[in-house]
Amino acid sequence: MTPASIDDFRELARRRLPRFLFEYIDGGSYAEETLRANGEDLQRLKLRQRVMRDVTDISLATTLLGQPVSMPVALAPIGLAGLYARRGEVQAARAAHMAGIPFILSSSACCGIEEVAGGSPVPPILQLYMIKDRPFMADLLARTAALGVETLVLTVDLIVHSPRRRDVRSSLTGQQGLAARLQRGLEIARHPAWAWDVGINGRPHTLGNFAPRMPEGAGLAQFTAWVGRNFDASITWSDLDWLRQHWRGRLAIKGILDAADARDACTAGAETIIVSNHGGRQLDGAPSAIAALPAVVTAVGSRADVLMDGGIRSGVDILRAIACGARGVLLGRGWAFALAAQGGAGVTRMLELMRHELAVAMALTGQRDVAGVTADVLAAGQPAG
Ligand code: FNR
Repeated sequence: MTPASIDDFRELARRRLPRFLFEYIDGGSYAEETLRANGEDLQRLKLRQRVMRDVTDISLATTLLGQPVSMPVALAPIGLAGLYARRGEVQAARAAHMAGIPFILSSSACCGIEEVAGGSPVPPILQLYMIKDRPFMADLLARTAALGVETLVLTVDLIVHSPRRRDVRSSLTGQQGLAARLQRGLEIARHPAWAWDVGINGRPHTLGNFAPRMPEGAGLAQFTAWVGRNFDASITWSDLDWLRQHWRGRLAIKGILDAADARDACTAGAETIIVSNHGGRQLDGAPSAIAALPAVVTAVGSRADVLMDGGIRSGVDILRAIACGARGVLLGRGWAFALAAQGGAGVTRMLELMRHELAVAMALTGQRDVAGVTADVLAAGQPAG
C-alpha cells in the first residue's frame, strides 16, 4: 500500500511492529474517552468554503518555538522512538530538519540528546520531565545548552503514570512472569523485519539521556524503572524558579488544558504554552485538546504563543487548530506511525502529505497566509469560533 494519510501509516505500522509496541503508541489511558474525543471534536469543526479569492500563492511559513518554520508544525516528543525504527529519533530529527520544522526530543528517547544533535545539522529541542534527582537534571540541562539547544519543553501533565489498559493486555506492563516474556518473544518472532532492523541492528535499547545515571550495561527495564521512580509528583509553579536558574533559553510548557493554569504558566515565564492532554494518555475524561484551546488562547492573550496537540491527523485538522487560535500544532502519533512504517523516509512523506493537505485546505477556504488565519475560516455557529 502506498500511504496517502496518517491512518495509512498507522496501518503499515500495525503490520510492521510487534503488537506490544503498536498498542503502546496507539493506545490511551483508562477507557480512552479523551483519546477518542481528541479526534472526534476536531472532525466536528466545519470549515467555511470560500471561492473566487485568488489563491495562487499560499504561504505556510511562520515562526514556532522561537524559530522560523516552513509550516506551522513540529514533531511532538515521543518516548522510545528508537524502538519503532533503528535509531529512530535520529532519523526523525533529520526528516524534520529537511522539512524545515522543529523536532522535539523526548527525555525518554532511546537516542540521547548528544546522539540526535550529532546526527542532524541542527540540534533538537529537548522535552523534559521534572525528575526528583535535581543534580542529574542540572547536568542534563548543561549538556543540552552546550549543544546549542535554544528551547526547552517542560511537560507538566505526567507527574504520575496513568493506567494504560492496552499495555497490560499486550504484556508490555503488568505482571512480568514467564508468560509475559513468552508473549512478547512470540510477537518479535512474528515480525522478523522489525527484529532485524531494530531488535538486532538498533542497539543499544536504552534511554540515552539518562545513561550517565545508570550502571554500565543496564537494560531498558532498569532505565524505565529508574525514570518511573524519579518522576517528581511534588512539583509546583515555584519549582520553575529552580528551572530558570539552570536554563537560560526559551521555555515552553506542555500539558496545559485549563485557562487558570495557562495564566500561571505565563506568570512563571513560559514563552510558549502547549495545549495538550498527552494524546489522551493521562487524565481520561479530560476535554479534548481542541475543545480546551479557545479558552487558553483567550487567557494567554499576547503573553505567550499557544500551540496544541492531540488528534491531528490531516492538513485540514491543522487548519482547524489554527482557526481555533493555535499558532501551530505538534504531531505525535502521526510521525511515530510513519517512522515505524518506513523509517525517516516515511516521516518525510507524511510531512509532505500534511504540507500539501494544509495548502489545499487554505486554498479552498480562501486563505493565502497561514499566519493570518483566524476563526473566520470556521463555518458559522461553531463552538470554537
Ligand atoms: C507521547 N507523548 C509524550 N509527551 C511528552 O511530553 N514526552 C514523551 O516522552 C511522550 N511520549 C509519548 C509516547 C507516545 C507513544 C505517544 C503516543 C505520546 C505525548 C505527545 O508528545 C503528544 O502530546 C501526543 O502524542 C499528541 O497527540 P497525537 O498527535 O498523538 O494524537
